[in-house]
Amino acid sequence: LAEDLPPNKLLGFKGIAASTADEVVIAPGYRAEVLISWGEPLVEGAAAFDPQGNNSAADQEKQFGDNNDGMSFFPIDDNHGVMAINNEYVNEQYLFAHGGSKATSLEDVRKSQAAHGVSIVAVKRAGDSQRWEVERPSRYNRRITANTEMQFSGPAAGHALLQTAADPTGRKVLGTFGNCANGKTPWGTYLTCEENFDTYFGTHQADYKTTADQKRYTLKVSEPERNWPDYDERFDVAKNPNEFNRHGWIVEIDPMNPTSTPIKHTALGRFKHENAAVTVAKDGRLVVYMGDDERGEHIYKYVSKGVVDVANPANNRSLLDEGTLYVAQFDGDAGGTPLKGTGRWIALEFGKNGLTPENGFRDEAEVLIFARKAAAQVGATKMDRPEWIAVNPHDGRAYCTLTNNSKRGEEGMPLNAANPRPNNVYGQIIRWDEGGDATAASFTWDIYALCGNPIAHPEGVNRGTPNITADNTFNSPDGLGFDKSGRLWILTDGKYSNKGDYAGQGNNQMLVGDPLSGEIRRFMVGPKSCELTGITFTPDYKTMFVNVQHPGEEGDSHFPNNSPRPRSSVLMITREDGGVIGA
Ligand code: FEO
Ligand code: CA
Ligand code: CA
Ligand code: CA
Repeated sequence: LAEDLPPNKLLGFKGIAASTADEVVIAPGYRAEVLISWGEPLVEGAAAFDPQGNNSAADQEKQFGDNNDGMSFFPIDDNHGVMAINNEYVNEQYLFAHGGSKATSLEDVRKSQAAHGVSIVAVKRAGDSQRWEVERPSRYNRRITANTEMQFSGPAAGHALLQTAADPTGRKVLGTFGNCANGKTPWGTYLTCEENFDTYFGTHQADYKTTADQKRYTLKVSEPERNWPDYDERFDVAKNPNEFNRHGWIVEIDPMNPTSTPIKHTALGRFKHENAAVTVAKDGRLVVYMGDDERGEHIYKYVSKGVVDVANPANNRSLLDEGTLYVAQFDGDAGGTPLKGTGRWIALEFGKNGLTPENGFRDEAEVLIFARKAAAQVGATKMDRPEWIAVNPHDGRAYCTLTNNSKRGEEGMPLNAANPRPNNVYGQIIRWDEGGDATAASFTWDIYALCGNPIAHPEGVNRGTPNITADNTFNSPDGLGFDKSGRLWILTDGKYSNKGDYAGQGNNQMLVGDPLSGEIRRFMVGPKSCELTGITFTPDYKTMFVNVQHPGEEGDSHFPNNSPRPRSSVLMITREDGGVIGA
């Protein structure tokens, strides 16, 4: 169908068919190659990767982490750069030599912790081509793990709720994990976002009573998804209840300074942070849009007090510590037109909008530590799992993937204008327009794509908006990013059964949307049972990096290169003619 449309100046490639193959399939004229895979030696002295899972925890601390997700490219010069790459979680059945889904020793837990966090990877141009390769050794190569020492900053730093026996100051914290997606500041630092941190905590203490505040962050103590508390008391909530409050933040890392201490910025609130879409408002203030990925959770915006000073980076240090956190309310269109409306940002400030001691908030730190509770208190809209947000560099409109929501329409989660479908299996991409001022208190919004499947549902709400066709159908948009020209890159993390509601959609995929015409074309498809996620470019936009995450999570992949155990990998995408990607 794409070929029947008039030529699109923005989308210069030929869209491809869906695929269920255990390989990467990409648009004609493009090349996708592996840059680095889980377990590759990174830091000096690292052991070689053992494909049977026999590397130790100490080995893994020096190797590239697992399940690479969000990432950013930081240029040094035309031929050198540094990449910061999140390692969100692990695939235990491949990480451990025993092949089980649970850690069976402290050594297993330490290996898992070492495979989490962030990998800082130096890269250099390969000859005079658009291809790049990992630089080893390099002083920049670094692993940040679930045990790396970090600092708290901002209004909640030092608060009683962040103090533990190991850290009575409430200012020093160990590690980051559940690092989903990311952001990049104008002063050249990396933001990594802590998402599903709750799944690492639990206790065997039979009479332990989960508090309301823990429940608000979906803590399930008896069977945590990752059994770290069985061997590491830090994650036992009966023994260390406040450790739970020390995760779920946005962490700033300076990738250019290998000895720098990462900073957890409490002013940006604590929730299941997906990514951090950073922009500079016309008055120079820093604005960060953030989604909280859980069914019925919210979209947030942070506005700094001071303005960005690119000439003097030292002046930017307080921008992520002093500012206001807002949460979004989406209302329907006054005239009743579906899929559009108006909205406003509500400040989460202690003492305002009902965020008072009577309602359970004793100070600003509690508003930030329990941002979800504060958002509900002020009447924020319950969304269909907000994942990534990306800002169009040409008009400042922000786009957010609402990936899906099986509970929409059930009790406590009624339909609303921005989340209009019951049992939302396909998801939607919403966008808002603040009239060119990212600090604005109100906005208009519309749905860029109501995802659907015209193959399975030729009619009705599950068909999707007209820009969804039998040729580009997909479910569960997740990763999102704009390039310099304004192409909207969409990555999916959805169902890949290729049956029923998902017939004809194949494996997870990456597509490109034209923000103005609405046209969407499929650019690439991943191998079996993976998610495609993470997106970054070199400054000339002639090399793109995308992640294949958890290939073969269903046990059915040998990606890459017929690997005995499948491995999450960073892909490098170039054009055979050396041109700009997507053009
Ligand atoms: Fe880690 Fe919401 O994805
Ligand atoms: Ca992911
Ligand atoms: Ca995601
Ligand atoms: Ca997802």
